[in-house]
Amino acid sequence: MRVVVTGGAGYVGGFAAERLLELGHEVTVFDNLWRGHAAGVPKGADFIEVDLRDAEGVMRAVRKAAPEAVMHFAAATLVGESMGHPRSYFGVNVVGTHNLIFAMVEAGCSKFVFSSTAAVYGVPERIPILEDDPKKPINPYGQSKWIVEQMLPWHAEAYGLNYACMRYFNVAGGASHRGEDHDPETHLVPILLEAAAGKRDEFTIFGEDYNTFDGTNIRDYVEVHDLVEAHVLALDKLDKPLGAFNLGTKTGFSVKQVLEAARNLTDQPIPARVGPRRAGDPPVLVADSTRARTELGWNPVRSDLETMLNGAWEWLQNNPNGYRK
Ligand code: UFG
Repeated sequence: MRVVVTGGAGYVGGFAAERLLELGHEVTVFDNLWRGHAAGVPKGADFIEVDLRDAEGVMRAVRKAAPEAVMHFAAATLVGESMGHPRSYFGVNVVGTHNLIFAMVEAGCSKFVFSSTAAVYGVPERIPILEDDPKKPINPYGQSKWIVEQMLPWHAEAYGLNYACMRYFNVAGGASHRGEDHDPETHLVPILLEAAAGKRDEFTIFGEDYNTFDGTNIRDYVEVHDLVEAHVLALDKLDKPLGAFNLGTKTGFSVKQVLEAARNLTDQPIPARVGPRRAGDPPVLVADSTRARTELGWNPVRSDLETMLNGAWEWLQNNPNGYRK
């Protein structure tokens, strides 16, 4: 298939583009290189530099690439940042996605895999979370993704757009040649490993007074190759609208457990201190992903802490400056 991968110069989009190429698809990456890296676009993919907020540019790019399917990873994704810059989040994530699906409909492309997030649930009423549980986002990031999710069924009905919303829990991991390279870096796993590698003096635990077994936040970590596989499986089944899928493992780890695992793997002390809570952090986010397992046949075999940390550590050790050589 001809597949457009938006955000294919970024972390998850880069892994997805690479996997699609491996499977024999023709891939065109759309990216504005705001947070992505030209060097992250996998070899063999075509690349079009385009900002999704530029409706005409997106229309031209879609016409040129003539995709049969689109995987849409490009987004602004930082919860904390979204609190201070809601207009950027609605601009990139809502207006940008609207432009993209508008152009898809015009071009007769009917398969759409959308990167959504656990942040659509806000503070969940029960754990593990099921797809139909209430959506009450507590930050503009989660709200922006939920707005798009709500737009999609109407596009299915009116224009025959077949879509799948992939609700990511906490993605981590990497490979020797590909991994997370964010500026600023805010995610737990790369921050811990940068501390282990001596690139940071210490690690701060954001709050130890949560109502969890050790007082720190619990998250459901998914390994990036596993995450991408769910997209590939969804793509195969997109001859009808599929709805939403939680992508997690039903197993939560606390911040302190991930810290201990990182200390064990790297054999480094990783000095840690306890700081205040971070605004917008729910105490526990753990997914029930039965739907992805039964309906897509998804089996996240690599999503144990050791495999995830190992991949991320391999990336950092081989690329201490990320994609900058
Ligand atoms: N954490 C620390 N110290 C740090 C960094 C993170 O203690 O220096 C903690 C956070 O408080 C959180 C956990 O580590 O409990 C994971 O934090 P991340 O920043 O790695 O990830 P988030 O849980 O904030 O974000 C993820 C996804 C978002 C999604 C969000 C839902 O990256 O896309 O879950 O809340 F919106």
